Amino acid sequence: MPESLSLARLTDAARFAAIDAETNPSPWSEEAFRESLGRSRGFAARDEAGVVLGFVVYTAVAGACEILELAVTVSARRRGIARRLLDAAITDAVSEGARRCLLEVRDSNTAARALYAGAGFVVDGRRKSYYRTPEGREDALLMSCDL
Ligand SMILES: CC(C)(COP(=O)(O)OP(=O)(O)OC[C@H]1O[C@@H](n2cnc3c(N)ncnc32)[C@H](O)[C@@H]1OP(=O)(O)O)[C@@H](O)C(=O)NCCC(=O)NCCS
Repeated sequence: MPESLSLARLTDAARFAAIDAETNPSPWSEEAFRESLGRSRGFAARDEAGVVLGFVVYTAVAGACEILELAVTVSARRRGIARRLLDAAITDAVSEGARRCLLEVRDSNTAARALYAGAGFVVDGRRKSYYRTPEGREDALLMSCDL
């Protein structure tokens, strides 16, 4: 497995923003990642040269882990990187006392929904018309997993 996971650094913010902008219709800015990494936790998957291929940003507060952002660069998808990042975030959050993991995902995001379902998440809510799309709005699914 050539990719290795390590703690995210504030200096990763620009690369995270570039990966997020590849396919997220509402990407976070570099500044948003820098702020979030200052307050939250994160892991990056890096190739042998240290180039970031994917990342997860999450919180672990009051017994709950919340996945804030998770993305893998297009050319490195379907290699299991997202699943490893998700597992690393959950393992860390459990060590901080988390008993539940929560996240929001676009209704149309079949890849992410399959990833989360495979990791044991279930849909337990829906926010109508929560996200903007080029055509209008779409629902957010609220997913959770007992840890
Ligand atoms: C969703 C995303 C993070 C998955 O990253 P990835 O590294 O390719 O995912 P993995 O290789 O770890 O896949 C794990 C499982 O997720 C599911 N999955 C991943 N991509 C999928 C796809 N395009 N279609 C269907 N299922 C998919 C599969 O069940 C897969 O297991 P398998 O390969 O054994 O079938 C990636 O597509 C991405 O960055 N998308 C844009 C950002 C995004 O949507 N983030 C989530 C926001 S909530």
